[in-house]
Order: sequence, then C-alpha cells, then structure tokens
Amino acid sequence: MDALINDIEIIKAKTTKINDVDFDNLTFGKILTDHMLECDFKDGKWQAPKVVPYQPITLDPSAKIFHYGQSVFEGMKAYKDADGTVWLFRPLDNFKRLNISSKRLAIPELPEDYFMNGLKALLKVDSDWIPRNEGSSLYIRPFIFASGKGFHASPADEYKFIIACAPSGSYFSGEVKVLIEEKYSRSANGGVGFAKAGGNYAGQFYPTQLAVDKGYQQVIWTDDNTHEYIEEAGAMNIFVRINDTLITGPTSDRILDGITRKSIIELAQSKGIPVEVRKITVSEVVEAAKNGSLKEMFGAGTAAVISPISGFGYKNEDYDIPEMEDAYASFLKKHITDIQTNKSEDPFGWRYKVE
Ligand code: PLP
Ligand code: COI
Repeated sequence: MDALINDIEIIKAKTTKINDVDFDNLTFGKILTDHMLECDFKDGKWQAPKVVPYQPITLDPSAKIFHYGQSVFEGMKAYKDADGTVWLFRPLDNFKRLNISSKRLAIPELPEDYFMNGLKALLKVDSDWIPRNEGSSLYIRPFIFASGKGFHASPADEYKFIIACAPSGSYFSGEVKVLIEEKYSRSANGGVGFAKAGGNYAGQFYPTQLAVDKGYQQVIWTDDNTHEYIEEAGAMNIFVRINDTLITGPTSDRILDGITRKSIIELAQSKGIPVEVRKITVSEVVEAAKNGSLKEMFGAGTAAVISPISGFGYKNEDYDIPEMEDAYASFLKKHITDIQTNKSEDPFGWRYKVE
C-alpha cells in the first residue's frame, strides 16, 4: 500500500502514460488514465475498494458476465476549474441509479461510501488527467459485472465493481442525424430499458449499424408496442422544440431517467422556457417538420452533453432541421456547462466539490 485517501487503499502505478496524451485533440473514451478503482463482491459482501494501477483483468471463461450479460454501468464527468478545483455533477444521482440498475439485474447493491470515497480517491490520484480545455472533461465509467463462475443461468456469487476514467472531448465528431425507428425496439414494458444495463446497448448495435449505413448517427427509439411515440436515442434522451415549447417524453420502465434530461427540464423552467413532459408522437414531429414549427431537436446526456440534431429520417423521407439563432440547445448547453465547470452560480446545488 502506498497511501490511504478517504480510507481507500492506494497502490500507485510505477510509470505514467500522461506525457503521451494530446490534451488538445481528445476523442471520446479511448485513452484511459493511470489508475482505476477496483472492488470485489465475494463471500456475500463487498470487500474494501482499492485504487490500483490501470491494468487488464483476468476472468474465468465461465464468468457469468460472458454468458448471461449481468452487467450495469454509469457515465459521469469530472471538471477542473481555473483554480484547479475538481467538480462532479450530481454524483449521488449516478450512485443511486447504479443501484437501481443493479437491483433490476439481481446484482448486489453497493454501499454509498464505497462509491463516493472510492471515486474521490481515484480522482485525487489521477487529478492531472482531468482536462481544463473548454469542451473536454474526464469521462468516468463506473461499472459492475458478474465475475462469479458457472453455466447455471442464475445470478453470480461474485462481482467486480470498477471505476475507469478517460480524458475525453466530444462524443459526436460532426453533425448528428437520427433515424426514427419503425421496426426494432430497444426496450419493452416490464423490461430493463430504465436500467443502464450493458445488454441494452448490445441490443441497439445492429439496428444502429443499419442506420449508420444509411448516413445517420443514432436511432431514435419508438415505443415497442406501436412505434408511434418517440422515446429516446441510443445514448441520450431526446428533446424537441415545437414553436417555443420544449417537449420531452416522460420516463418509464422503457427509458433511462437521464440526469442531464432532468437538469435541463429544471434549468429551462427556471429561465422561463415553456416545458412539457408528455408523450410525443412521431406524426406530430413529422407534421411540425413539414409546417416549419419544428424549430429544434436535441439529445441530452452525460457523454453527449446537449447535441443538436440537424435532421431525421422516417419512412424513407429525410427532414432537415435548419440551425437557428438563439437556439434553446446552445442557450441551455452554455448554462449547464457553466454550472458544471464552476463558471457560474449553481442555484440548484448540482455541483459537487471533490475534496
Ligand atoms: N439514455 C441513454 C440510453 C443513455 O445511455 C444515456 C447516457 O447516460 C442517457 C439517456 C442520458 O443519461 P444521463 O444524462 O444521466 O447521462
Ligand atoms: C453517458 O452519457 O454517460 C453514457 O453512458 C452513454 C454511453 C453510451 C456513452
């Protein structure tokens, strides 16, 4: 052991990779920092978490993650302000959602102090990796998976919780066009759509690849029953602006309860923007695109931040959404990122100082 931070044991890496990193040209999630947090569930309880050098992990080929996909994850970001202070955004909401996801996947829930103290210790050790450039941040990926062995189709008896971090720039490299899905479904009533379960993403890859082949970046999922209602996109919740009203669908057991989504709703309301949380039909969006009342569509998520959508495809027709001045997307993005990066007041108490 090299040290203890917040009661977390730290084993430091002998070398650093940081000098090889071009912080001015970061992509998303490809470069990992020098350390990770590791914590095992065995003998019926979570063992003490440790910060260790970032390294590959060895698993038994019968580990249940490989066969039954028992895994959940979170996505968060750390920001460094001009004074070098490190900030998180609503981290307890991520912690709570991780346990909501775990419960649905029959994974044992994690104690709050293991998550929070472990994360803070990791950020201290890898603090130099937190970018300061505008538009960049340290993307944080907490995840839990079944490491326990055996082919019996039942919950594992051992799990691993890891937090790995990647200094990152934007999630999308160019414009974002979406395809409104008519056939495939991401989730169903009573399913796991509300959880951040790895399998939700695996199930999207094939239909999303079909959309990518047609020139779109993401699929907008519709309800599995009728495909008449807009739900969310592959990696973000969806907002549409019809005339001056900002509309987003209600969460349900098919949709991820996004932290960015709920922050945008509160922020927009506080700025006097009319907001409706209600079911959105595909036909009203198509109609609004045709008659010019569809002013904006954007995705919202930790990785995506607020990503304007420049057009959508539906039933072999493409609809453009021309960029507009005074877009809600840019107004809300500036306000939310100013709060996240400590450039403005935080009247909502969302910002969390890492000490
Ligand atoms: N929906 C899906 C499917 C996502 O993967 C994400 C990303 O986390 C979101 C929505 C947005 O959630 P949040 O704002 O909490 O990151
Ligand atoms: C996030 O926004 O943090 C996510 O988890 C989305 C992911 C698919 C990149």
